[in-house]
Amino acid sequence: MQERLNQLQEEFKKDLQGSKTTKELKNLKIKYLGRKSTLTQLFAQIPALPNDQKGLWGKKLNLFKVKINLALENNVKIEDREEESLDLTFPSASCQEGSRHILTTVNEKICSIFERLGFAVIEGSEIEDEWHNFEALNIPLEHPSRDSFDTFYLDLPAKDKGKYLLRSHTSPSQIRIMKKTKPPLAVISPGRVYRPDEVDATHSFMFHQIEGFVVGEAINFAHLKGTLLYFAQEFFSCDVELRFRPHFFPFTEPSAEVDMSCIMCKGKKNKETKCSICKNKGWLEVLGCGMIHPNVLEACGINAKKYQGFAFGMGVERIVMLKYSIDDIRLFYENDIRFLKQFSI
Ligand code: DAH
Repeated sequence: MQERLNQLQEEFKKDLQGSKTTKELKNLKIKYLGRKSTLTQLFAQIPALPNDQKGLWGKKLNLFKVKINLALENNVKIEDREEESLDLTFPSASCQEGSRHILTTVNEKICSIFERLGFAVIEGSEIEDEWHNFEALNIPLEHPSRDSFDTFYLDLPAKDKGKYLLRSHTSPSQIRIMKKTKPPLAVISPGRVYRPDEVDATHSFMFHQIEGFVVGEAINFAHLKGTLLYFAQEFFSCDVELRFRPHFFPFTEPSAEVDMSCIMCKGKKNKETKCSICKNKGWLEVLGCGMIHPNVLEACGINAKKYQGFAFGMGVERIVMLKYSIDDIRLFYENDIRFLKQFSI
């Protein structure tokens, strides 16, 4: 019996080396483990063996059976891998290519328009202190407009006084830059801002703004109007018009809100085909602006008698929503590929 087992083991070794395909390996399994195999015959002889031999032979034969199974399994795997690695025509696993987010694309487009006018792009700091976010911008502690700007405070005392907070607008960039750099200045400052707003179709606790400002000698409101008209006509369409509505911002005087003639109905206010974009008002609100308040210049150590400046601030989401007729701000942040893909370039 031992001799037959030895022969069988030798034969299996040779057969295994000679088998290449999955089919040949399957045939080996039948030959060595099938019902008519030598091994099955050997198992059948166990009951006739002397009692003290039965257990020993049971173990020996089972061990060989396990070895056969393992050898066949391993060879199948190796062979499959070889076939895969040799198939040079097999298509590669596809992976979806990403693209820039529409907010990034528009942000860069806006900045590049102002860069052509000579503005420098300087990012501010997302974590601000109360002085830069409020006081230096002529918003004292008791000012009512501070309520809607009161954002997320950090549990950390600021370096000078007050607390740190997530900035509620990009206007503090004005302060940081004016304190460090002497006029003349023309800067555009993009970035994220935070508000204590409930999320809905037009509000988000976080969105993006672009602040712009110019400081120099003899800067006046006409420079502001010319700059913003250039921007609107470059970005939206060469035939848009702007309307400056008096408004109040603590950091500018005089201040204005700027409306643009509706890009859909061109401000025609057609009564029969009511415009869904401007609701037949003919105008769309785009941004806030004004002449920098002397208190702001003085807070930065700039002589307000010698220098004047203008400033403006716009929400990037709002600009994108106007340009592409998007009616819900939440779409920008939900990562729905079907929405984002429409703007991939
Ligand atoms: N900081 C204002 C806001 O977040 C936007 C703004 C309005 C900026 C008028 C300005 C400005 O520079 O002149 O609502």
